[in-house]
Amino acid sequence: MMSTRWDFPHYAELGIGSTSTLPLPAEAVGGAVLLKLEEDNPTGSIKDRTAYFLIRELWDRGELSQGDCLVESTSGNLGISLAFLGGLLGLHVCCVVDKTIAPRKLERLLAAGAEVRSIEDDQALDPRSRRIALAKQIGDQVGRHWVNQYGNEAGMRAHESTTGVELLQHGGQNDEVVVAVGTGGTICGIGRAFRTAGQPCRIVGVEPAGSTIFGGQVAPHHGYGAGYAGRSALFSRFGHIVDQGMKVSEADAEGEVRRLKDLAGLSVGMTTGMCLAYARGALAQDGRKRILCVAADSGEDYEHLTAAETGNPTWPAT
Ligand SMILES: Cc1ncc(COP(=O)(O)O)c(C=O)c1O
Repeated sequence: MMSTRWDFPHYAELGIGSTSTLPLPAEAVGGAVLLKLEEDNPTGSIKDRTAYFLIRELWDRGELSQGDCLVESTSGNLGISLAFLGGLLGLHVCCVVDKTIAPRKLERLLAAGAEVRSIEDDQALDPRSRRIALAKQIGDQVGRHWVNQYGNEAGMRAHESTTGVELLQHGGQNDEVVVAVGTGGTICGIGRAFRTAGQPCRIVGVEPAGSTIFGGQVAPHHGYGAGYAGRSALFSRFGHIVDQGMKVSEADAEGEVRRLKDLAGLSVGMTTGMCLAYARGALAQDGRKRILCVAADSGEDYEHLTAAETGNPTWPAT
């Protein structure tokens, strides 16, 4: 049997974190907006931070041996991050995905060496519940670990001790921090860092219309990493840290993504568009507000989706 102790690099040695903060031109969304550019992480998304902490805490507890397999239900960024880190650390990665996974995400998962399993059609349960159930079942086998991003507090600690601390350095003087919410790990971690530091800046969560993290009626939406039917276990426990939850239309988010590209040549992902759609509305009400938006990934993986699917959500609301 292989050792459970081996050299485990610090996240900074792997190029994770210390991402840049970029001021947008005032005309972009109508006022002072800073973007925390998480595409600077090695696989191009904020989920490298989450994946590192999920793996690191298993290792710290002595539960992980080289050659073990990490199992997770994901349709994108977290799976790519796990596969990338797994490759560096001598771990296998198995991702349970929907059949509707974005083709570019699937390509990247496979290229990073992940084993990919997709769920069977079964109308009795929503797709996310089926993915989670299968991931749990596979993860129960010897040498396999279900990392459970929906309930694992390590995912929140990642953002409390890295993203949150960095935002306090660069964005502590802002009035609002805006974060798109899926599992809630990012926003709850950032919120906890701000509250611990006594920083009064408001913590605002955004979700796509049709997602019901902040209530309302469930309806079809793409999500693009954000959104949930109900609340994850993590968000149920720590979501009280959030000061305000807002819904934005995905069409408005796509509009913001396109405008930013045309105006400033910047490519941001759809969930960043959701944050910007919120920021535009907030600045229309109070143009003096200073808003910091977390840009979770770039627009690269979504370009074909905006062209083909604008206004026509086909991904189930999960
Ligand atoms: C692009 C993007 N934005 C936002 C989120 C939501 O982050 P969290 O799950 O920490 O709430 C995710 C999660 O995968 C994501 O991939």
